[in-house]
Amino acid sequence: MVVIRGATTINRDDKEEIKRAVKELLEQIANVNQLIKDEIVSIVFSSTSDIHAYYPAKAAREAGFEGCSLFSAQEPDIHGGLSLCIRVMIFVEKDIKPRHVYLRGAKVLRKDIATVYSVAIDGPAGSGKSTVAKRLAADYHIHYLDTGAMYRACALCVVEAGLDVSDEAAVVDLMRTVELEVEYENGVQKTIVNGRDVSEDIRRPAISMAASAVSKHPSVRIHMAEQQRQIAGKMSCVLDGRDIGTFVLPDADFKFFLTARPEIRAKRRYDELVAKGHTVDFEELKAEIVRRDEQDSTRAVAPLKVAEDAVVIDTSEMTVEEVVSTIKQRMQERI
Ligand code: DC
Repeated sequence: MVVIRGATTINRDDKEEIKRAVKELLEQIANVNQLIKDEIVSIVFSSTSDIHAYYPAKAAREAGFEGCSLFSAQEPDIHGGLSLCIRVMIFVEKDIKPRHVYLRGAKVLRKDIATVYSVAIDGPAGSGKSTVAKRLAADYHIHYLDTGAMYRACALCVVEAGLDVSDEAAVVDLMRTVELEVEYENGVQKTIVNGRDVSEDIRRPAISMAASAVSKHPSVRIHMAEQQRQIAGKMSCVLDGRDIGTFVLPDADFKFFLTARPEIRAKRRYDELVAKGHTVDFEELKAEIVRRDEQDSTRAVAPLKVAEDAVVIDTSEMTVEEVVSTIKQRMQERI
């Protein structure tokens, strides 16, 4: 017998919300763990004390999970706990490594028994990582962590402070005084530096090269990787970056490495920047991408490279849709 755990949150105490959330949670758990309903022995729910509108167990039965025993209970009101949260424990007759599922901001309470899963997507600039990672996270209702944004935020601080990006000691000293936060608003990551939302500023082309330069410093990398591990340890996440599968989370459950020909990657970045109103020279952008690849791949600590157990996907001739469905298919094969 194996126990799978999961949790989700709802927006308001409403019967239809509860039914939707329970169905989504159970279907995700079944999907990620490749369960057929007959393998489920029983399902136990607990919900926070602010949920009254419907029994999660009843919602589960109505969602088609009816051949097993079902039970719901209400949790005591714990100060500071999550509100409007439904937790579940599913007992299954199957010899698998359970994959626990935490959706819509619900967090793991018992990290010792509940492992969350992580999807690492590494690759060079313009390989399609962030578009694909965002889509995957949205489809699986898990968090998306753009680790490049953290290096970019660091670079922005260094540039605005007029410091030299290659001066490791100065960069680290500055980072110690900066409060870098990653927040989520409607599932979209916002990068906040000392309370200021820098999500747009960090996308400026000048910051890309500076981010690559500051990311070379071992002490900066160690600091960032620690923060990234903490986030990924708390909730299921899709992380994109350069070193997720090799350094940040060498035990990530799923690892992908996206790549594409340099001219294609430059064209994608060009279109993205032009759409945002930036004026850019295509040839210059292409040269910068090649330089950045070189810098990211040759640094001494955690360089951009393919993890031994990563699935490599050349996205040059693929649509976003094709890449996303290839990744989902590979994930299904692995579980
Ligand atoms: O993915 P991006 O273009 O936003 O990343 C900007 C730079 O940050 C990239 O050139 C190298 C660095 N970076 C890194 O070293 N490790 C990561 N995990 C993510 C980004």
